[in-house]
Amino acid sequence: MEALKSKITDCANLEELEVVRVEIFGKKGILAAEFAKLKDIPPAEKKDFAKSMNEKKVELQNIFDAKKLELEAIALQKELESQKIDISLYGYENNKGALHPVKDTMDKIIDYFATLNFSVESGPLVENDFNNFEALNLPKNHPAREMQDTFFFADGNLLRTHTSPVQIRTMQNQKPPIRMIAPGAVFRRDYDLTHTPMFHQVEGLLVGKKGEVSFANLKAILEDFLHYMFGDVKVRFRPSFFPFTEPSTEVDISCIFCKGDGCRVCSHTGWLEVLGSGVVDPNVFKAVGYENVSGYAFGLGVERFAMLLHGIGDLRSMFEGDIRLLEQFK
Ligand code: DAH
Repeated sequence: MEALKSKITDCANLEELEVVRVEIFGKKGILAAEFAKLKDIPPAEKKDFAKSMNEKKVELQNIFDAKKLELEAIALQKELESQKIDISLYGYENNKGALHPVKDTMDKIIDYFATLNFSVESGPLVENDFNNFEALNLPKNHPAREMQDTFFFADGNLLRTHTSPVQIRTMQNQKPPIRMIAPGAVFRRDYDLTHTPMFHQVEGLLVGKKGEVSFANLKAILEDFLHYMFGDVKVRFRPSFFPFTEPSTEVDISCIFCKGDGCRVCSHTGWLEVLGSGVVDPNVFKAVGYENVSGYAFGLGVERFAMLLHGIGDLRSMFEGDIRLLEQFK
């Protein structure tokens, strides 16, 4: 009996236990053989023999059941351990992407004006002559049309040469007051170190009641904006001409590379031109049917801002899709 007990308790795993189960409790097992002796036992002893055999069987069964539970628990524990995730293991390094400098600069510009409650408007890239020129006080045969080397379609439509037509669309669809910017792509027939046929502009327009919006407001907001973009720079407003504004100014900042001493980037002038702006010409308001209003507008080239902010020398490199350029902006 003790030998049978230790046969069970000595089992190291469930497989061994199964072999022992067949050996002891199986049809042709040890217990079955013991019970078979019953038939050869004298009748008077039969009852006691059977009783003691049954008690032994129950005892062995209990030991077996306990051992089985124990071995099952060990097996489960082993399996759980084999499936454990080692969270201290180092992962593969993620190859993070980067925003294209044009997109990044555009976002920064939009952030500034969105904070001041300017709405962000958009318009189609294929424009008609009225929105791109006529309504902006650029009638047919106006010499200033020459400034914008336009891609025309056969039907007279064109790829917009600036984001200014979004001013027209917005004023046609909304009543004053207006406070908007229009970021987007524009197209011109031009290609050299600082020009590509497609580039991006951000247009700005603010319209209020007549007398409410002045050149002083324009000056204040653009100065603040340029300090936000370029930090501690000097800002200068220089008289200029745009058909859609009167007076018109171009805005310069002191050269961020030579701090105004004069270098190759600023053509030794100490200044960098960054914006066009002015007080909206009354003819523009007439074209959209606005009365008794005044306003200011501005427009800037996003690539120019990005090139200055990141010291990029050749505008064309922005559009070559060379991953080595982008990797520098991670
Ligand atoms: N549309 C002009 C350009 O493409 C930029 C510009 C200048 C926009 C003055 C304006 C502005 O709204 O007032 O060169």
